[in-house]
Amino acid sequence: MLIFVIWAVASCSKDETPDQGTGGGNSGGSACDLSNVTFSETVWPIINANCTSCHSGASPGGGILLTNHATVAAQGAIGSGNPGSLLGAITHAAGNSPMPQGQAKLSDCNISKIRTWINAGMPDN
Ligand code: HEC
Repeated sequence: MLIFVIWAVASCSKDETPDQGTGGGNSGGSACDLSNVTFSETVWPIINANCTSCHSGASPGGGILLTNHATVAAQGAIGSGNPGSLLGAITHAAGNSPMPQGQAKLSDCNISKIRTWINAGMPDN
């Protein structure tokens, strides 16, 4: 038990130091690079890794497809709290179903990247 606690503390502090300045990845730390957000390089990898498993195919979750720019942008255009809102779902806003369903919330950094893309007008880049 004590050994586990020491290991947990040690591995936790180890996780917090690197990752800085790489601009990519899932790190929710202070080094969240929002300077070069694109659909293909930033938003799509997040959606594809966390959402597309359920939001694709003949009967996607909630009838919502998240399989390409057009379908992601369609949900992104809906304001938080309204049915189908991309940002509302991933920020767990009141009035939306928390996504990804049954899994941990996306990192703050990944949520910020998606918000940045939406605020930029959701370019297909
Ligand atoms: C395990 C399956 C699963 C995963 C993974 C998943 N979803 Fe969903 N999603 C669903 C189902 C089922 C619904 C419809 C039922 C509901 O709204 O709870 C839904 C509904 C939604 C809605 C509509 C919610 C609302 O409030 O109107 C949005 C938007 C959404 N998902 C986006 C996402 C995004 C973005 C991700 C990834 C970050 C994601 N989903 C991951 C299954 C999933």
